Amino acid sequence: MPKILFVCLGNICRSPTAQAVFEDLLQPRNIADMVTVGSAGTSVYHAGEPPCDVMQRAAQRRGLEMSHLRARQVNPSDFERFDYIYVMDRANLQALLGMAPPEHHHKIALFLAYAPDLGPDVPDPYYGGRNQAERVFDIIEEGALALLEHLLKKEICP
Ligand code: 4NP
Repeated sequence: MPKILFVCLGNICRSPTAQAVFEDLLQPRNIADMVTVGSAGTSVYHAGEPPCDVMQRAAQRRGLEMSHLRARQVNPSDFERFDYIYVMDRANLQALLGMAPPEHHHKIALFLAYAPDLGPDVPDPYYGGRNQAERVFDIIEEGALALLEHLLKKEICP
């Protein structure tokens, strides 16, 4: 099973939520040990910070803890290390394709590629309130499940 990196702009709202939600989906399926999950931002703006308050609170309302996560910027070794890189919106997809060597572009896709009814972009909750955070969390939960189902099929019958 693969190494998966989730990417947004700041790595404080959407991609740490995707990391926590995706890890939480692996647990009951007993595959958490087989998959490496990480997250990063295309920007360095919030490096070292924990996830934003609105998304942490939304996570806690769903019984998910992500206060241990710390933001970091994507670095060149990520393109070597990770097998799949999922980006939260088209602007950051373009930014990431600009950072990645062409031989790694095939690893990079939109997070909602397998949940097209929800996409293409996961909205940015940074300037929104509780309702926006809940909406974004719902999208990330559905998108993560669609992604996991796709990866399970692909890894078992590639
Ligand atoms: P994220 O949200 O990309 O989901 O982590 C944002 C975080 C910070 C900013 C924008 C979006 N910002 O402009 O600082």
